[in-house]
Amino acid sequence: MKGIILAGGSGTRLYPISQVVSKQLMPVYDKPMIYYPLSILMLAGIREILVISTPSQLPLFQQLLQDGSQWGLKFSYLEQPRPDGLAQAFILGKDFIANDSVCLILGDNLLYGYGLTDVLTRAAQLREGALIFGYRVAEPQHYGVVELNDAGQVVNIEEKPSIPKSNYVVPGIYFYNSQVSEIADQLKPSARNELEITDLNRVYLNRGQLRIELLSRGYAWFDTGTYESLHQAASFVQTLEQRQGLKIACIEEIAYRLGYIDANQLYQLAKPLAKSSYGLYLMDIINGDNYNVQVHHNNLATSANRFKQEFLKAEKLTL
Ligand code: TTP
Repeated sequence: MKGIILAGGSGTRLYPISQVVSKQLMPVYDKPMIYYPLSILMLAGIREILVISTPSQLPLFQQLLQDGSQWGLKFSYLEQPRPDGLAQAFILGKDFIANDSVCLILGDNLLYGYGLTDVLTRAAQLREGALIFGYRVAEPQHYGVVELNDAGQVVNIEEKPSIPKSNYVVPGIYFYNSQVSEIADQLKPSARNELEITDLNRVYLNRGQLRIELLSRGYAWFDTGTYESLHQAASFVQTLEQRQGLKIACIEEIAYRLGYIDANQLYQLAKPLAKSSYGLYLMDIINGDNYNVQVHHNNLATSANRFKQEFLKAEKLTL
């Protein structure tokens, strides 16, 4: 399965913050927003990823994410000339998708919860039809709302209805089979002149090929498109990270734990970041994971630890 991160759009609800710089490059506490959807694709086991953004912002994403090999991934990049809708990702990405299935994630979506990796790896097995998730929110009218029957199957989906038929909405992560580009090609622009993902999902629904998995109440989902949700997402990340001493969506850590990079590569990635607690966190991973395991790793752990101690001394800091 391949992955697409859609990180264009106009971000008008965050103006003036996002007037010059893409919202998906904004910080959500200690890392750029796009790290969160990227981590989701990685946890699903997806390594070939297309990043789509506006012509002016795409070079910044390339600068940040590079070719992906530093994290054991492979990135491609494509411009979306205008924000003509989410479903356009599959038309732009047709050659990239080729005959594979694909997961689309929106660049401003943050999803977190126990068991998520299992949910994602299962979803990434999809070869037929489409799979979406359902998430309960208090104010569904701002999203794509699903109507479900007693068996928990989707009966209908409506985009931003004024009278929602349920509290379940569709988060910005979707899985499709390889026919998705063909189907997207047939869509007509909506009243707001966009190729709607809801219309695409409705085609799968009418074919009896749309599955939904409801995310239970333990999950956190934010789309960080307004001041309030951006702030809430940052607070959520800060609270959890500080309490547990574990990071959410730390790309280097995920790459290391998935075996895409080794301890030495992790060390090289951590060094330039060592003036931040993010870099020190990576150093700690090397220490913790490899202590007393192998001579090579012990040496690395020792140097990572020394590096950290020297840095803290120089900065007159203690942990
Ligand atoms: P939205 O939040 O719906 O739109 P937006 O980002 O343009 O923001 P605003 O409503 O404040 O003007 O988009 C959801 C995500 O999809 C976001 O990450 C931007 C991205 N997007 C695209 O990349 N291309 C598009 O054509 C659209 C509509 C959105």
